[in-house]
Amino acid sequence: MCGIVGILGKSAVATNLVDALRRLEYRGYDSAGIATVEHGALERRRAEGKLRNLESRLLSEPLAGRTGIGHTRWATHGRPTERNAHPHMTANVSVVHNGIIENFRELRLALEAKGHRFETETDTEAVVHLITDEMKRGLSPIDAVREALTHLQGAFALGIIFAGNDDLMIAARQGSPLAIGYGSGEMYLGSDAIALAPFTDAITYLEEGDWAVLRRAGVEIFDRSNARVERPVIKSVASSLLVDKGNHRHFMAKEIHEQPEVISHTLANYIDMVEGRVNFPDLGIDLAKINRVTISACGTAYYAGLVAKYWIERTARVAVEIDVASEMRYRETPLPQDGLAVFVSQSGETADTLATLRYCKVNGQRIASIVNVRTSTIARESHAALPTLAGPEIGVASTKAFTCQLSVLACLAIAIARARATITPQQEMELVAALMEIPRHISSIIRNEQPFIDIAQELSKATDVLYLGRGTSFPIALEGALKLKEISYIHAEGYAAGELKHGPIALIDERVPVIVVAPQDDLFEKTLSNMQEVAARGGQIILISDAPADSVGCKLAAHIQMPTVSAFTTPLLYAVPTQLLAYHTAVVMGTDVDQPRNLAKSVTVE
Ligand code: G6P
Repeated sequence: MCGIVGILGKSAVATNLVDALRRLEYRGYDSAGIATVEHGALERRRAEGKLRNLESRLLSEPLAGRTGIGHTRWATHGRPTERNAHPHMTANVSVVHNGIIENFRELRLALEAKGHRFETETDTEAVVHLITDEMKRGLSPIDAVREALTHLQGAFALGIIFAGNDDLMIAARQGSPLAIGYGSGEMYLGSDAIALAPFTDAITYLEEGDWAVLRRAGVEIFDRSNARVERPVIKSVASSLLVDKGNHRHFMAKEIHEQPEVISHTLANYIDMVEGRVNFPDLGIDLAKINRVTISACGTAYYAGLVAKYWIERTARVAVEIDVASEMRYRETPLPQDGLAVFVSQSGETADTLATLRYCKVNGQRIASIVNVRTSTIARESHAALPTLAGPEIGVASTKAFTCQLSVLACLAIAIARARATITPQQEMELVAALMEIPRHISSIIRNEQPFIDIAQELSKATDVLYLGRGTSFPIALEGALKLKEISYIHAEGYAAGELKHGPIALIDERVPVIVVAPQDDLFEKTLSNMQEVAARGGQIILISDAPADSVGCKLAAHIQMPTVSAFTTPLLYAVPTQLLAYHTAVVMGTDVDQPRNLAKSVTVE
């Protein structure tokens, strides 16, 4: 994953920039670079591969500037070459960027039409030329960035410096984290507090939509409406820990908020962003010929697999067999010849999942695993390990690992569909475009947590909560219920909405909140009918939908307004409100959110 650093220093900053980048190495990268302001002009050094390559470059061609930005790049748009490495620059502006600029193609075409010449395959270069273009129109650097930001779509973090301006750096955050560090007569910028730990422990985390003007004397921060805002300065403990909570109260909150960034990175690993097509690794099996996919996992990872069953069956027209690993390992299930078996595991160490993997391997299946820990046993014992790039997940209740698992599984479904020609190239591009929009939509949901805090007050009074959904919203209902019970200890169950009449409806009265996960997809009307059945019995309905509250024809206790997205990608988006509801309810209840009683993060026993 890309890392950003920036320093407004009292003396030459190149060495410190590289030191800070070294602390971001844990995020993974394939090229690196720094740029500084040298006697008023922008100069940069970049190198493919490890930081030592950049260091040896700097030994032979040093940089002396006191104002600089640096970047470790984890390639998304364009290969990991020196040419594509950050910082990107024109004579006026130099930029480091983390995240994805979704509309870079449109921006690039418009800027090229105005005479800008692009040198790289990256989305970032569009930002550089956009700011340059605004400055050529006569805007100051600050005004130019403010204007340029209004044209950028996507989830991103930016660090920007300018020729002729030795005491100015601009930072912007929309979806990818960014921290500002305070020194004595120096200021810093970093993707996280860990990068800045050697220089300072006084940190401000920018909030969603914030942008900031840094000078040696201090920082001015503006929100997305360009109003000047104060953000708290906190004392970071990152120097002693490699993973910290940032300015969040719990790891779970931080991990929920990291989703736009980590989903972007995970998608970028399986999508050719330039082509807008899936770029899936060879699993060593002919995906066109498989006639069954077997999926197994435990807990939250199992629900990710359940979503994939809907995706793969519908999009790729292949039957999917799925079961929790603790059952499948003993079921002695017959397996097809040359079938594909997919295992999903955050830790990669879950005992039941591993045992099922071994059963499938012995029985001739091709084994692919979706894991967050690349060095794990499940990864090692698989024929193909498909990493999620969620980063370390500390909260026991899985959040970002889940949505990253979904991201990989969505790409897998598209890859199988393409191989089997059950979708056209045009449909593939539409599905990929829909996936790439998800980080931005998640950013918009987590920007305002107040509705979730309000609903949590009511949920915390309940003793039983039901979750309903149909289609891919059914596994999201199951996952939502699991999240709530795991961390708040309130009894919660998820049901397929159509099953309501076959039992759970007996539980409904005015004390039972019923959370309905209902995007306006082809099953929406059917879910609405089930919702009416709940309403008729006095159930307290909390609707999560892109349909407006006044259009559903029954009384709602609460409504979470969702953006409208492609039906294919709704599970990725609708998981987020269920996470926030569970989180805030647990906070109200005062439970140990990150380490709930009786639960373990990694279950290495049966
Ligand atoms: C435990 C964790 C869950 C997780 C499950 C599977 O129950 O508390 O969050 O979903 O194990 O773990 P895995 O590491 O295989 O995804």
